[in-house]
Amino acid sequence: MMAEEKRPVKITETILRDAHQSLIATRMTTEQMLPIIDKMDKVGYNSVECWGGATFDASLRFLKEDPWERLRKLRAGFKNTKLQMLFRGQNILGYSHYPDDVVEYFVQKSIANGIDIIRIFDCLNDIRNLQTAVNATNKFKKQEGRGHAQVALSYTLGDAYTLDYWRDIARKIEEMGADSICIKDMAGLLVPYEAEKLVKALKEGTKLPIQLHTHYTSGVAAMTYMKAVEAGCDIIDTAMSPLSMGTSQPATEVMAKTFENTPYDPEFDQNLLAEIADYFKPLREEWIASGRYSTKVMGVNINTLRYQVPGGMLSNLVSQLAEMKQEDKFDEVLEEVPRVRKDFGEPPLVTPSSQIVGTQAVLNVVLGERYKQFTKESRDLLAGKYGQTVKPMNPEVQKKALGDTKPITHRPADDLEPGLAKFEAECSQWKRQDEDVLSYALFPQVATEFFKYRDTQSTGVDSTLADKEDKVYPV
Ligand code: CO
Repeated sequence: MMAEEKRPVKITETILRDAHQSLIATRMTTEQMLPIIDKMDKVGYNSVECWGGATFDASLRFLKEDPWERLRKLRAGFKNTKLQMLFRGQNILGYSHYPDDVVEYFVQKSIANGIDIIRIFDCLNDIRNLQTAVNATNKFKKQEGRGHAQVALSYTLGDAYTLDYWRDIARKIEEMGADSICIKDMAGLLVPYEAEKLVKALKEGTKLPIQLHTHYTSGVAAMTYMKAVEAGCDIIDTAMSPLSMGTSQPATEVMAKTFENTPYDPEFDQNLLAEIADYFKPLREEWIASGRYSTKVMGVNINTLRYQVPGGMLSNLVSQLAEMKQEDKFDEVLEEVPRVRKDFGEPPLVTPSSQIVGTQAVLNVVLGERYKQFTKESRDLLAGKYGQTVKPMNPEVQKKALGDTKPITHRPADDLEPGLAKFEAECSQWKRQDEDVLSYALFPQVATEFFKYRDTQSTGVDSTLADKEDKVYPV
Protein backbone atom coordinates (compact mmCIF):
# COMPACT_ATOMS: atom_id res chain seq x y z
CA MET A 1 0.00 0.00 0.00
CA MET A 2 1.19 3.52 -0.68
CA ALA A 3 2.42 5.58 2.22
CA GLU A 4 -1.00 6.98 2.90
CA GLU A 5 -1.62 9.16 5.88
CA LYS A 6 -2.85 7.30 8.94
CA ARG A 7 -6.59 7.53 9.50
CA PRO A 8 -7.32 4.87 12.15
CA VAL A 9 -10.93 3.72 12.12
CA LYS A 10 -12.65 4.25 15.46
CA ILE A 11 -14.71 1.43 16.89
CA THR A 12 -17.84 1.46 19.04
CA GLU A 13 -18.36 -1.81 20.93
CA THR A 14 -22.00 -2.93 21.07
CA ILE A 15 -21.89 -6.15 23.12
CA LEU A 16 -23.42 -4.46 26.16
CA ARG A 17 -26.41 -3.07 24.19
CA ASP A 18 -27.30 -3.82 20.58
CA ALA A 19 -25.58 -7.22 20.31
CA HIS A 20 -27.51 -8.76 23.19
CA GLN A 21 -30.66 -6.86 22.21
CA SER A 22 -30.42 -8.36 18.71
CA LEU A 23 -29.48 -11.93 19.69
CA ILE A 24 -30.81 -12.72 23.17
CA ALA A 25 -33.74 -10.31 23.57
CA THR A 26 -31.75 -7.86 25.74
CA ARG A 27 -31.32 -10.26 28.64
CA MET A 28 -27.68 -9.64 29.63
CA THR A 29 -27.68 -8.64 33.31
CA THR A 30 -25.50 -6.03 34.99
CA GLU A 31 -23.91 -8.83 37.01
CA GLN A 32 -22.85 -10.50 33.77
CA MET A 33 -21.32 -7.24 32.51
CA LEU A 34 -19.35 -5.98 35.48
CA PRO A 35 -16.54 -8.59 35.76
CA ILE A 36 -15.21 -7.78 32.28
CA ILE A 37 -15.51 -4.01 32.02
CA ASP A 38 -12.07 -3.42 33.50
CA LYS A 39 -10.53 -5.20 30.50
CA MET A 40 -12.93 -3.61 28.03
CA ASP A 41 -11.86 -0.24 29.39
CA LYS A 42 -8.30 -0.88 28.17
CA VAL A 43 -9.11 -1.66 24.53
CA GLY A 44 -9.22 1.90 23.24
CA TYR A 45 -12.77 1.87 21.93
CA ASN A 46 -14.26 5.08 20.57
CA SER A 47 -17.14 4.25 22.92
CA VAL A 48 -19.00 1.34 24.45
CA GLU A 49 -22.69 1.32 23.67
CA CYS A 50 -24.27 0.01 26.84
CA TRP A 51 -27.56 1.74 27.57
CA GLY A 52 -30.84 2.87 26.04
CA GLY A 53 -32.65 1.15 23.19
CA ALA A 54 -34.55 -1.78 24.65
CA THR A 55 -32.22 -2.24 27.63
CA PHE A 56 -34.18 0.18 29.80
CA ASP A 57 -37.52 -1.57 29.33
CA ALA A 58 -35.96 -5.06 29.55
CA SER A 59 -34.10 -4.23 32.77
CA LEU A 60 -37.25 -3.11 34.54
CA ARG A 61 -39.60 -5.66 33.01
CA PHE A 62 -37.64 -8.89 32.79
CA LEU A 63 -34.49 -8.55 34.87
CA LYS A 64 -35.98 -6.61 37.80
CA GLU A 65 -33.04 -4.24 37.67
CA ASP A 66 -32.95 -0.50 37.98
CA PRO A 67 -31.52 0.72 34.64
CA TRP A 68 -30.17 3.87 36.32
CA GLU A 69 -28.26 1.76 38.82
CA ARG A 70 -26.78 -0.22 35.92
CA LEU A 71 -25.63 2.99 34.27
CA ARG A 72 -23.96 4.25 37.46
CA LYS A 73 -22.13 0.94 37.91
CA LEU A 74 -20.92 0.97 34.30
CA ARG A 75 -19.81 4.57 34.68
CA ALA A 76 -17.84 3.71 37.80
CA GLY A 77 -16.11 0.84 35.97
CA PHE A 78 -15.34 2.50 32.65
CA LYS A 79 -12.79 5.08 33.71
CA ASN A 80 -11.30 5.82 30.29
CA THR A 81 -13.99 4.86 27.80
CA LYS A 82 -16.93 6.91 26.60
CA LEU A 83 -20.35 5.41 27.25
CA GLN A 84 -22.99 5.56 24.54
CA MET A 85 -26.75 5.14 24.50
CA LEU A 86 -29.50 4.86 21.89
CA PHE A 87 -32.35 7.37 22.18
CA ARG A 88 -35.55 7.39 20.06
CA GLY A 89 -35.87 11.16 19.65
CA GLN A 90 -39.17 12.44 20.97
CA ASN A 91 -40.10 8.84 21.94
CA ILE A 92 -37.09 8.73 24.34
CA LEU A 93 -36.93 4.98 25.04
CA GLY A 94 -40.66 4.37 24.74
CA TYR A 95 -43.07 4.03 21.87
CA SER A 96 -45.00 7.30 21.72
CA HIS A 97 -44.20 11.01 21.71
CA TYR A 98 -43.34 12.62 25.05
CA PRO A 99 -43.55 16.29 26.02
CA ASP A 100 -40.37 18.34 25.70
CA ASP A 101 -39.86 18.68 29.46
CA VAL A 102 -39.71 14.89 29.83
CA VAL A 103 -37.29 14.55 26.89
CA GLU A 104 -35.04 17.26 28.30
CA TYR A 105 -35.03 15.81 31.83
CA PHE A 106 -34.23 12.35 30.47
CA VAL A 107 -31.23 13.71 28.59
CA GLN A 108 -30.11 15.61 31.68
CA LYS A 109 -30.27 12.54 33.91
CA SER A 110 -28.63 10.28 31.30
CA ILE A 111 -25.63 12.58 31.12
CA ALA A 112 -25.55 13.18 34.88
CA ASN A 113 -25.49 9.43 35.54
CA GLY A 114 -22.67 8.78 33.10
CA ILE A 115 -23.61 8.83 29.42
CA ASP A 116 -21.17 10.59 27.06
CA ILE A 117 -22.66 10.01 23.61
CA ILE A 118 -26.39 10.08 22.93
CA ARG A 119 -27.35 8.57 19.58
CA ILE A 120 -30.70 10.10 18.67
CA PHE A 121 -32.97 8.88 15.86
CA ASP A 122 -36.53 9.14 14.57
CA CYS A 123 -38.38 6.45 12.65
CA LEU A 124 -39.39 8.93 9.91
CA ASN A 125 -36.07 10.82 9.85
CA ASP A 126 -38.18 13.90 10.69
CA ILE A 127 -35.49 16.07 12.20
CA ARG A 128 -38.07 18.17 14.08
CA ASN A 129 -38.50 15.10 16.31
CA LEU A 130 -34.77 15.19 17.13
CA GLN A 131 -34.29 18.87 17.91
CA THR A 132 -35.36 18.84 21.58
CA ALA A 133 -33.02 15.96 22.43
CA VAL A 134 -30.12 17.55 20.51
CA ASN A 135 -30.65 20.92 22.20
CA ALA A 136 -30.88 19.29 25.61
CA THR A 137 -27.65 17.35 25.04
CA ASN A 138 -25.85 20.54 24.06
CA LYS A 139 -27.24 22.34 27.08
CA PHE A 140 -26.18 19.69 29.62
CA LYS A 141 -22.88 19.16 27.88
CA LYS A 142 -22.04 22.69 28.95
CA GLN A 143 -23.20 22.06 32.52
CA GLU A 144 -21.73 18.60 33.10
CA GLY A 145 -18.64 18.79 30.90
CA ARG A 146 -19.82 15.57 29.28
CA GLY A 147 -22.18 14.88 26.38
CA HIS A 148 -22.20 14.46 22.62
CA ALA A 149 -25.27 14.62 20.40
CA GLN A 150 -25.09 12.12 17.59
CA VAL A 151 -27.99 12.13 15.13
CA ALA A 152 -28.69 8.76 13.54
CA LEU A 153 -30.49 8.54 10.21
CA SER A 154 -32.59 5.44 9.67
CA TYR A 155 -31.22 3.94 6.47
CA THR A 156 -33.75 2.74 3.93
CA LEU A 157 -34.23 2.21 0.22
CA GLY A 158 -36.80 3.80 -2.08
CA ASP A 159 -37.33 6.49 -4.71
CA ALA A 160 -37.08 9.29 -2.16
CA TYR A 161 -33.74 8.17 -0.75
CA THR A 162 -31.29 9.44 -3.33
CA LEU A 163 -27.72 10.46 -2.63
CA ASP A 164 -28.99 14.07 -2.80
CA TYR A 165 -31.45 13.30 -0.02
CA TRP A 166 -28.69 11.94 2.24
CA ARG A 167 -26.25 14.76 1.39
CA ASP A 168 -28.92 17.35 2.10
CA ILE A 169 -30.12 15.89 5.38
CA ALA A 170 -26.49 15.54 6.58
CA ARG A 171 -26.07 19.28 6.07
CA LYS A 172 -29.29 19.98 8.01
CA ILE A 173 -28.11 17.82 10.89
CA GLU A 174 -24.87 19.74 11.12
CA GLU A 175 -26.89 22.96 11.14
CA MET A 176 -29.14 21.73 13.94
CA GLY A 177 -26.15 21.43 16.29
CA ALA A 178 -25.28 17.74 16.26
CA ASP A 179 -21.71 16.59 16.98
CA SER A 180 -21.69 13.60 14.62
CA ILE A 181 -23.89 11.64 12.23
CA CYS A 182 -24.64 7.95 12.20
CA ILE A 183 -26.16 5.92 9.40
CA LYS A 184 -28.30 3.41 11.20
CA ASP A 185 -28.94 0.42 8.98
CA MET A 186 -31.15 -1.68 11.23
CA ALA A 187 -31.97 -4.25 8.57
CA GLY A 188 -28.63 -4.75 6.87
CA LEU A 189 -29.84 -3.24 3.59
CA LEU A 190 -26.71 -1.23 2.89
CA VAL A 191 -24.56 -3.22 0.46
CA PRO A 192 -20.80 -2.53 0.14
CA TYR A 193 -20.60 -0.45 -3.04
CA GLU A 194 -23.66 1.59 -2.08
CA ALA A 195 -22.01 2.26 1.27
CA GLU A 196 -19.02 3.71 -0.54
CA LYS A 197 -21.26 6.10 -2.51
CA LEU A 198 -23.30 6.98 0.55
CA VAL A 199 -20.31 7.85 2.72
CA LYS A 200 -18.85 10.02 -0.04
CA ALA A 201 -22.18 11.85 -0.42
CA LEU A 202 -22.44 12.44 3.34
CA LYS A 203 -18.89 13.75 3.43
CA GLU A 204 -19.85 16.27 0.73
CA GLY A 205 -22.78 17.43 2.87
CA THR A 206 -21.02 17.74 6.21
CA LYS A 207 -17.73 17.99 8.06
CA LEU A 208 -19.11 16.05 11.03
CA PRO A 209 -17.65 12.61 11.80
CA ILE A 210 -19.61 9.81 10.12
CA GLN A 211 -20.38 6.59 11.99
CA LEU A 212 -21.87 3.51 10.37
CA HIS A 213 -24.12 1.10 12.21
CA THR A 214 -25.30 -2.03 10.47
CA HIS A 215 -26.40 -5.58 11.22
CA TYR A 216 -25.09 -8.82 9.74
CA THR A 217 -28.64 -10.05 8.97
CA SER A 218 -28.22 -10.08 5.19
CA GLY A 219 -24.59 -11.27 5.25
CA VAL A 220 -22.83 -8.21 3.79
CA ALA A 221 -22.00 -6.15 6.89
CA ALA A 222 -18.23 -6.67 7.16
CA MET A 223 -17.74 -5.89 3.46
CA THR A 224 -19.96 -2.85 3.84
CA TYR A 225 -17.76 -1.59 6.68
CA MET A 226 -14.64 -2.14 4.63
CA LYS A 227 -15.89 -0.11 1.65
CA ALA A 228 -17.32 2.56 3.95
CA VAL A 229 -14.06 2.99 5.86
CA GLU A 230 -12.07 3.21 2.63
CA ALA A 231 -14.50 5.91 1.50
CA GLY A 232 -13.93 7.98 4.63
CA CYS A 233 -16.27 6.60 7.28
CA ASP A 234 -14.78 7.53 10.66
CA ILE A 235 -16.39 5.11 13.11
CA ILE A 236 -17.95 1.64 12.86
CA ASP A 237 -20.04 -0.41 15.31
CA THR A 238 -18.89 -3.94 16.09
CA ALA A 239 -19.60 -6.61 18.69
CA MET A 240 -17.14 -8.95 20.41
CA SER A 241 -17.24 -12.29 18.58
CA PRO A 242 -19.33 -14.34 21.07
CA LEU A 243 -22.33 -12.07 20.33
CA SER A 244 -21.50 -11.03 16.79
CA MET A 245 -22.89 -11.71 13.30
CA GLY A 246 -26.38 -12.99 12.53
CA THR A 247 -28.77 -10.19 13.44
CA SER A 248 -25.97 -8.52 15.46
CA GLN A 249 -22.87 -6.60 14.25
CA PRO A 250 -19.63 -7.82 12.63
CA ALA A 251 -17.05 -9.12 15.14
CA THR A 252 -14.76 -6.57 16.76
CA GLU A 253 -11.67 -8.81 16.55
CA VAL A 254 -12.27 -9.50 12.86
CA MET A 255 -12.70 -5.87 11.84
CA ALA A 256 -9.67 -4.80 13.91
CA LYS A 257 -7.60 -7.55 12.24
CA THR A 258 -8.92 -6.60 8.79
CA PHE A 259 -7.54 -3.08 9.12
CA GLU A 260 -4.21 -4.10 10.70
CA ASN A 261 -1.16 -2.63 8.94
CA THR A 262 -3.32 -0.35 6.82
CA PRO A 263 -3.87 3.39 7.26
CA TYR A 264 -7.12 2.48 9.05
CA ASP A 265 -5.48 0.27 11.72
CA PRO A 266 -7.23 0.89 15.08
CA GLU A 267 -4.19 -0.70 16.76
CA PHE A 268 -6.17 -2.91 19.11
CA ASP A 269 -4.38 -5.58 21.15
CA GLN A 270 -5.68 -8.91 19.79
CA ASN A 271 -4.56 -10.71 22.98
CA LEU A 272 -6.65 -8.40 25.11
CA LEU A 273 -9.61 -8.87 22.75
CA ALA A 274 -9.16 -12.65 23.05
CA GLU A 275 -9.31 -12.42 26.84
CA ILE A 276 -12.54 -10.44 26.61
CA ALA A 277 -14.01 -12.96 24.16
CA ASP A 278 -13.03 -15.79 26.53
CA TYR A 279 -15.10 -14.15 29.23
CA PHE A 280 -18.24 -14.08 27.07
CA LYS A 281 -17.87 -17.58 25.53
CA PRO A 282 -19.30 -19.57 28.46
CA LEU A 283 -22.19 -17.08 28.67
CA ARG A 284 -22.85 -17.64 24.97
CA GLU A 285 -22.97 -21.40 25.62
CA GLU A 286 -25.45 -20.86 28.46
CA TRP A 287 -27.71 -18.72 26.29
CA ILE A 288 -27.63 -21.29 23.50
CA ALA A 289 -28.32 -24.18 25.90
CA SER A 290 -31.30 -22.35 27.42
CA GLY A 291 -32.77 -21.60 23.99
CA ARG A 292 -32.46 -17.87 24.62
CA TYR A 293 -29.95 -17.63 21.76
CA SER A 294 -31.62 -19.33 18.81
CA THR A 295 -30.49 -20.38 15.35
CA LYS A 296 -33.18 -18.05 13.96
CA VAL A 297 -30.94 -15.05 14.64
CA MET A 298 -27.73 -16.68 13.45
CA GLY A 299 -26.51 -17.06 9.89
CA VAL A 300 -27.82 -15.13 6.90
CA ASN A 301 -31.40 -14.14 6.12
CA ILE A 302 -31.20 -13.43 2.42
CA ASN A 303 -34.91 -12.55 2.22
CA THR A 304 -34.02 -9.23 3.78
CA LEU A 305 -32.18 -8.29 0.58
CA ARG A 306 -34.74 -9.93 -1.72
CA TYR A 307 -37.71 -8.05 -0.27
CA GLN A 308 -35.82 -5.03 1.08
CA VAL A 309 -37.64 -5.24 4.38
CA PRO A 310 -36.09 -5.85 7.80
CA GLY A 311 -35.83 -9.47 8.96
CA GLY A 312 -37.88 -8.78 12.08
CA MET A 313 -40.69 -7.37 9.96
CA LEU A 314 -40.75 -10.49 7.76
CA SER A 315 -41.10 -12.77 10.77
CA ASN A 316 -43.89 -10.54 12.16
CA LEU A 317 -45.79 -10.86 8.88
CA VAL A 318 -45.40 -14.63 8.94
CA SER A 319 -46.74 -14.90 12.49
CA GLN A 320 -49.62 -12.45 11.86
CA LEU A 321 -50.75 -14.51 8.85
CA ALA A 322 -50.29 -17.78 10.76
CA GLU A 323 -52.58 -16.51 13.53
CA MET A 324 -55.29 -15.86 10.94
CA LYS A 325 -54.60 -19.17 9.19
CA GLN A 326 -53.85 -17.21 6.00
CA GLU A 327 -50.26 -18.31 5.41
CA ASP A 328 -50.93 -18.73 1.68
CA LYS A 329 -51.31 -14.92 1.44
CA PHE A 330 -47.65 -14.29 2.28
CA ASP A 331 -46.54 -13.43 -1.27
CA GLU A 332 -49.51 -11.13 -1.80
CA VAL A 333 -48.74 -9.33 1.45
CA LEU A 334 -45.10 -8.93 0.45
CA GLU A 335 -46.24 -7.27 -2.77
CA GLU A 336 -48.64 -5.06 -0.84
CA VAL A 337 -45.96 -3.79 1.59
CA PRO A 338 -44.22 -1.43 -0.88
CA ARG A 339 -47.61 -0.12 -2.10
CA VAL A 340 -48.73 0.73 1.43
CA ARG A 341 -45.34 2.25 2.13
CA LYS A 342 -45.77 4.51 -0.93
CA ASP A 343 -49.28 5.55 0.18
CA PHE A 344 -47.87 6.35 3.62
CA GLY A 345 -45.15 8.68 2.27
CA GLU A 346 -42.37 6.08 1.87
CA PRO A 347 -41.10 6.03 5.48
CA PRO A 348 -38.05 3.99 6.56
CA LEU A 349 -39.16 0.60 7.85
CA VAL A 350 -38.05 0.69 11.46
CA THR A 351 -39.96 0.41 14.75
CA PRO A 352 -42.73 1.57 14.82
CA SER A 353 -43.27 2.41 11.12
CA SER A 354 -42.38 -1.16 10.07
CA GLN A 355 -45.19 -2.59 12.22
CA ILE A 356 -47.67 0.05 11.02
CA VAL A 357 -46.99 -0.57 7.33
CA GLY A 358 -46.79 -4.36 7.78
CA THR A 359 -50.06 -4.66 9.69
CA GLN A 360 -51.89 -2.45 7.20
CA ALA A 361 -50.58 -4.55 4.30
CA VAL A 362 -51.87 -7.69 6.03
CA LEU A 363 -55.31 -6.09 6.56
CA ASN A 364 -55.48 -4.91 2.95
CA VAL A 365 -54.84 -8.42 1.64
CA VAL A 366 -56.73 -10.51 4.17
CA LEU A 367 -59.91 -8.38 4.00
CA GLY A 368 -59.88 -8.62 0.20
CA GLU A 369 -60.17 -4.84 -0.19
CA ARG A 370 -57.50 -2.18 0.22
CA TYR A 371 -58.04 0.15 3.18
CA LYS A 372 -61.41 -1.36 4.10
CA GLN A 373 -60.12 -1.03 7.64
CA PHE A 374 -57.36 1.07 9.24
CA THR A 375 -55.47 0.41 12.46
CA LYS A 376 -55.31 3.28 14.95
CA GLU A 377 -51.58 3.57 14.24
CA SER A 378 -52.16 3.80 10.48
CA ARG A 379 -54.68 6.60 11.07
CA ASP A 380 -52.22 8.43 13.34
CA LEU A 381 -49.41 8.12 10.82
CA LEU A 382 -51.70 9.41 8.03
CA ALA A 383 -52.79 12.23 10.35
CA GLY A 384 -49.18 13.41 10.71
CA LYS A 385 -49.01 12.39 14.36
CA TYR A 386 -45.65 10.65 13.97
CA GLY A 387 -44.22 13.53 11.99
CA GLN A 388 -43.56 14.38 8.40
CA THR A 389 -42.70 11.69 5.86
CA VAL A 390 -40.10 12.27 3.18
CA LYS A 391 -42.69 12.01 0.38
CA PRO A 392 -46.29 13.25 0.44
CA MET A 393 -48.88 10.69 1.49
CA ASN A 394 -51.59 9.50 -0.88
CA PRO A 395 -54.40 12.07 -0.35
CA GLU A 396 -57.17 9.59 -1.22
CA VAL A 397 -55.96 7.13 1.38
CA GLN A 398 -55.62 9.97 3.89
CA LYS A 399 -59.18 11.11 3.17
CA LYS A 400 -60.48 7.56 3.59
CA ALA A 401 -58.72 7.21 6.95
CA LEU A 402 -59.39 10.66 8.38
CA GLY A 403 -62.66 11.84 6.80
CA ASP A 404 -62.87 15.59 7.20
CA THR A 405 -60.18 15.78 9.87
CA LYS A 406 -57.17 17.66 8.56
CA PRO A 407 -53.73 16.06 9.03
CA ILE A 408 -51.40 18.10 11.22
CA THR A 409 -48.30 19.60 9.65
CA HIS A 410 -46.60 20.91 12.80
CA ARG A 411 -44.23 18.93 15.05
CA PRO A 412 -46.38 16.35 16.89
CA ALA A 413 -44.95 17.16 20.34
CA ASP A 414 -46.15 20.78 19.97
CA ASP A 415 -49.59 19.44 20.92
CA LEU A 416 -48.33 17.99 24.21
CA GLU A 417 -48.60 19.81 27.54
CA PRO A 418 -45.60 19.60 29.90
CA GLY A 419 -45.80 16.25 31.69
CA LEU A 420 -43.17 15.99 34.44
CA ALA A 421 -45.26 17.43 37.26
CA LYS A 422 -48.08 15.01 36.52
CA PHE A 423 -45.76 11.99 36.41
CA GLU A 424 -44.04 13.21 39.57
CA ALA A 425 -47.39 13.32 41.40
CA GLU A 426 -48.53 9.95 40.11
CA CYS A 427 -45.46 8.03 41.27
CA SER A 428 -44.55 9.99 44.43
CA GLN A 429 -45.45 7.01 46.65
CA TRP A 430 -42.78 4.87 45.00
CA LYS A 431 -40.09 7.43 44.36
CA ARG A 432 -36.71 6.62 45.95
CA GLN A 433 -34.51 8.68 43.58
CA ASP A 434 -35.10 11.56 41.11
CA GLU A 435 -34.69 9.22 38.14
CA ASP A 436 -37.71 7.12 39.16
CA VAL A 437 -40.07 9.68 37.68
CA LEU A 438 -38.49 9.06 34.27
CA SER A 439 -38.78 5.28 34.56
CA TYR A 440 -42.42 5.85 35.48
CA ALA A 441 -43.05 8.35 32.67
CA LEU A 442 -41.86 5.88 30.06
CA PHE A 443 -43.32 2.64 31.40
CA PRO A 444 -45.91 3.43 34.09
CA GLN A 445 -47.12 -0.12 34.75
CA VAL A 446 -43.80 -1.90 34.41
CA ALA A 447 -42.03 0.72 36.53
CA THR A 448 -44.69 0.55 39.27
CA GLU A 449 -44.32 -3.22 39.46
CA PHE A 450 -40.57 -2.79 39.63
CA PHE A 451 -40.89 -0.16 42.40
CA LYS A 452 -43.07 -2.55 44.45
CA TYR A 453 -40.58 -5.34 43.91
CA ARG A 454 -37.70 -3.07 44.92
CA ASP A 455 -39.46 -2.12 48.15
CA THR A 456 -40.14 -5.74 49.09
CA GLN A 457 -36.50 -6.56 48.36
CA SER A 458 -35.23 -3.85 50.66
CA THR A 459 -37.65 -4.76 53.47
CA GLY A 460 -37.21 -8.50 53.01
CA VAL A 461 -40.95 -9.01 52.52
CA ASP A 462 -42.13 -11.46 49.87
CA SER A 463 -38.76 -12.18 48.34
CA THR A 464 -40.36 -14.88 46.15
CA LEU A 465 -42.02 -12.21 44.00
CA ALA A 466 -39.19 -12.25 41.49
CA ASP A 467 -39.77 -15.92 40.73
CA LYS A 468 -43.49 -15.40 40.30
CA GLU A 469 -42.87 -12.47 38.01
CA ASP A 470 -40.61 -14.61 35.92
CA LYS A 471 -43.49 -16.96 35.25
CA VAL A 472 -45.77 -14.13 34.22
CA TYR A 473 -43.26 -13.20 31.53
CA PRO A 474 -42.20 -16.42 29.85
CA VAL A 475 -38.61 -16.16 28.68
CO1 CO B 1 -28.87 -1.72 15.67
